[in-house]
Amino acid sequence: MASTAAAVNGAAQSIISVRDVSKDYLLGKTHVHALRGVSLGVDRGEFLSIAGPSGSGKTTLLNLIGCVDTPTSGTVLVDGQDTSRLSERALTDLRLHRIGFIFQSFNLVQVLSVFQNVEFPLLLQGGLSQQERSARVNGLLEAVGIGEYARHRPSELSGGQRQRVAVARALVTRPALVLADEPTANLDSATGQNIIDLMRDMNRKDGTTFVFSTHDPKVMAHASAIIRIADGQIAGREAVHGARAEPAAAPVRS
Ligand SMILES: Nc1ncnc2c1ncn2[C@@H]1O[C@H](COP(=O)(O)OP(=O)(O)OP(=O)(O)O)[C@@H](O)[C@H]1O
Ligand SMILES: [Mg+2]
Repeated sequence: MASTAAAVNGAAQSIISVRDVSKDYLLGKTHVHALRGVSLGVDRGEFLSIAGPSGSGKTTLLNLIGCVDTPTSGTVLVDGQDTSRLSERALTDLRLHRIGFIFQSFNLVQVLSVFQNVEFPLLLQGGLSQQERSARVNGLLEAVGIGEYARHRPSELSGGQRQRVAVARALVTRPALVLADEPTANLDSATGQNIIDLMRDMNRKDGTTFVFSTHDPKVMAHASAIIRIADGQIAGREAVHGARAEPAAAPVRS
């Protein structure tokens, strides 16, 4: 039984534990095997990059970890909890209070302003006064460089500006875990660097765990480790030596 106890303890230490997970999609009459037996552990405080070619399963994996989708088989534990055993209410709580998700397609609410989009999770959470919410939201909008667009609607922004709103919305609740699907894909290199520095700063100061997918070698260079994924399977995990110790510019935190 000792090994079982060790396994349970190991699961409690890891913020994410993905065990032998497969995900099939039905596309017309064809089954697409997006993930095939993926196992992965992520420790608290990691800054982990998932790298792989287009279609390799990065978004699918992040969606399963973020409880946005469910696996066809296998288990996903977040914070030691088996997500398949949680009620809808408990899943909503987990997503709202523990996880920040930056979607590849942003998923902004089109009828809300930039400010309101970022404020939204704080309103759902409750607990902060209007003043506290404003300070937190405005601080983050400044930190991602879109303070002047607070009153704009998403449809009035460029792709890169929308991406920065999505980043601010994911970070505003100061979640324990941030899942970021290509968070810098639409940004020029200076802005992308700024976003990565902001995340790295949160990772160091608050111990926030980050798991992000990227194609960008410059972004990968900041990770503490890289998981390579190919054709729905983990092809390898490598520690990044010489991940930069300090951010280039200290970003403003709210
Ligand atoms: N909703 C869906 N229905 C059917 N097939 C899907 C669906 N979502 C993803 N797939 C398929 O699953 C596979 C993995 O897709 P996924 O989006 O996870 O890849 P990715 O690594 O994120 O790619 P990219 O780098 O282009 O974002 C692909 O073959 C894709 O076509
Ligand atoms: Mg993707």
